[in-house]
Amino acid sequence: MEQEKKQWALLTGASRGIGLELARGLAARGYCLALVARGEEGLLTARERLLSEGAPEVVTIALDLAESGAPQRLYEECVGRGLEVEVLVNNAGVFAYCDLCDMEPERVEQVLALHVEATTHLCRLFARDMRSRGRGHILNMSSYASWLPLGGLSLYAPTKAYVREFSYALREEMRGCGVSVTVAVPAGVATDLYGLSADYQRLGVRLGVLLTPEKVARKCLSGMFADRRRVALGWGYRVLIPLLRHLPRGVKKLIKQKTLVFQK
Ligand SMILES: NC(=O)c1ccc[n+]([C@@H]2O[C@H](COP(=O)([O-])OP(=O)(O)OC[C@H]3O[C@@H](n4cnc5c(N)ncnc54)[C@H](OP(=O)(O)O)[C@@H]3O)[C@@H](O)[C@H]2O)c1
Repeated sequence: MEQEKKQWALLTGASRGIGLELARGLAARGYCLALVARGEEGLLTARERLLSEGAPEVVTIALDLAESGAPQRLYEECVGRGLEVEVLVNNAGVFAYCDLCDMEPERVEQVLALHVEATTHLCRLFARDMRSRGRGHILNMSSYASWLPLGGLSLYAPTKAYVREFSYALREEMRGCGVSVTVAVPAGVATDLYGLSADYQRLGVRLGVLLTPEKVARKCLSGMFADRRRVALGWGYRVLIPLLRHLPRGVKKLIKQKTLVFQK
């Protein structure tokens, strides 16, 4: 009897937060998983959890995707291991809440390389294979902050706007090839991204200002498999964003000072 072919999903930033929940959702749909992040320990913990929950197969690849040439190395690693990637999730990201002039150049490089370059290169490499096979799904992680280019977000917000617009255009290029491209645009999510303590994360969820990563992952995956162009999550922010944009400068500055205090 012919063995059923394994379906692989490659997820970046999958050791915790939204990425881990996306991995859980894909495992529940029967996908074998290739998880990428920098920290080996986090990856192994995630792997153990996913396997204990019934994931068919999980491989981990410890890699800093902000390093030059990392997307190509990741692609080669997948090819070398014989993983035919059916689902690519570009989720790895870091937050930068700081005025550009006060940011270390290494941090600027890291954010640009991870959000813009790695996302672009990984899409190019894996989308080509998907296109020739005539099937595949790509999910790219943007953010509601992409609509909020306020002080302190001069780097983070535009890089996430790039991810959104890039995904729309790639989707057009993939039309008719059997490859779906979806961009996720979540508002605040209770994860370690902002350095919020676990107590503040719980409080944020209880107050309704933060989404749970479980909910975000569920909606993102159903949107991706339904071939939606965009999955935006956090309707309250649709009202808040125009208001925030038009607040007086002094008030914006005060909000920035106050919100920075909540970080670890
Ligand atoms: N949390 C939110 O409110 C929110 C809202 C909108 C959009 N997002 C976006 O959602 C994505 C996931 O965020 P999250 O909230 O789940 O954050 P998180 O809990 O901090 O997880 C980030 C993941 O990315 C990995 N990562 C970070 N830098 C990396 C690098 N250079 N190379 C490879 N992997 C790297 C991390 O592992 P290592 O540290 O071990 O590398 C971790 O697995 C990000 O793109 C973020 O911008 C988040």
